[in-house]
Amino acid sequence: MKTFYIETFGCQMNAHDSEKVVGTLLQKGYTQVERPDEAELVLYNTCSIRDKAEQKVFSRLQQFKREAGNGKVFGVLGCVAQQEGERIFERAPHVSLVAGSASYTKLPELLVQVEGGNRRVTGLSLDTDQTFDTPFTQRDNPHRAYITIIEGCDKACAYCVVPFTRGPERSRTSESVLREASTLAGSGYSEIQLLGQNVNSYRDPSSSGWDFAQLLANTGNVPGIRRVRFTTSHPRDFVKDIVDAIDDNPVLCNHVHLPVQSGSSSVLSRMQRLYSRDQYMRRIEWMKNAKRNIAITTDIIVGFPGETESDFEQTLQLAEEVEYDSMFIFKYSKRPNTSALQFEDHIPEEEKTRRLMVLQERQRAIQIRRNAEFIGKSEEVLVEGYNVATRQWIGRTTQNKTLNFCDSNLPAPADGDTLVGRYAQVLVTRAGPNSLAGERLAPAVPGVQ
Ligand code: SAH
Ligand code: SF4
Ligand code: F3S
Repeated sequence: MKTFYIETFGCQMNAHDSEKVVGTLLQKGYTQVERPDEAELVLYNTCSIRDKAEQKVFSRLQQFKREAGNGKVFGVLGCVAQQEGERIFERAPHVSLVAGSASYTKLPELLVQVEGGNRRVTGLSLDTDQTFDTPFTQRDNPHRAYITIIEGCDKACAYCVVPFTRGPERSRTSESVLREASTLAGSGYSEIQLLGQNVNSYRDPSSSGWDFAQLLANTGNVPGIRRVRFTTSHPRDFVKDIVDAIDDNPVLCNHVHLPVQSGSSSVLSRMQRLYSRDQYMRRIEWMKNAKRNIAITTDIIVGFPGETESDFEQTLQLAEEVEYDSMFIFKYSKRPNTSALQFEDHIPEEEKTRRLMVLQERQRAIQIRRNAEFIGKSEEVLVEGYNVATRQWIGRTTQNKTLNFCDSNLPAPADGDTLVGRYAQVLVTRAGPNSLAGERLAPAVPGVQ
């Protein structure tokens, strides 16, 4: 069994986990293929955050049911694997391997068991932090790299499966984080994204005892690294030192994703988010008062059980007050094991949809306003690609905004000459709700200085 296919669902942590899985398998002599029908080993790295995400993997498995047995092996990894465990074998009997995120370093051993004829192999222990040591990580992007700094989550938000699917918090030593950042810089990566379900509760387990703001500031000083991002921040643990660190060093991107979930303190309290609307707004103030123009983005859940029209109205008002640069809006979805299951006053699906659409529309107007403020300004972008249809380069600003641009000297990639991976200075000439557009000003400089 030497070819494999992997499909990944869910968040950046899952995407990064898949990079570790791919690296581990390649190192063991497997070859990655692009289509499931070509693969002897088919892996799904799953997400369970909402019911729809969970259902996706079962519909995928359904598609290939008949192919199982002819030398083809199916494995379910990630959050649905951790949550459902051996029940997956009942729901999809052609699956032979079920493993959660803390077991990926053991994958080669687990696969040996599968190859030996064991049809029900599991790796479900959460009792390890070995996932940090990933010498074989095969990164998808040659310029931008994820680094996990903390695994798991110790919060207990009433709607959320993550504490069950990812286990308790385990922080990685700062030395190991900085070493990985340096190695990445040496291999040509110039942008680092620090990952964790709640990066703000990072605490260095080694003697230096750094908190997240210290780790962030020091990652910004790694030679060769031009941009550092981080996700996700929990407002309760978000301290002013983080804003100060961003103010002090332009390498730290001026973008903070600070999920609020609701603008109503009573909903926040029932969600067990551990902060009130006022406490959240204080953190927003720190950012609004910063020297740098920090982009703020968020996540909102509409239709949490018991959310009244007036609660929802408060969310709309909060969005207007903060003027988010972008927002992910989700309809509340009932999840197994979570404490919100105890609530009975559920909001009808149509009403959730209505609230989602109302909020989306308001947010669209805010983004049009926010983005228009960039017209006439010069922004640095890391170039990520080229769009053949629009004949524009695609770049990303430090605020994480997409900035599409033309370059009169290099209208398209030519003779191996490309801007991708390099930094360019772009004059913004137009703005829409979801992106900016402009023209390149000065020649692009190589990605790593
Ligand atoms: N750790 C991050 C969020 C991880 S999940 C944090 O604490 O912010 C990403 C987003 O999914 C959450 O911010 C929330 O808005 C949404 N989400 C989580 N559980 C959900 C559920 N049961 N229904 C709908 N949305 C949910
Ligand atoms: Fe889920 Fe809350 Fe933990 Fe985020 S902080 S992962 S929303 S439990
Ligand atoms: Fe989904 Fe697991 Fe991430 S539930 S959002 S893949 S932590």
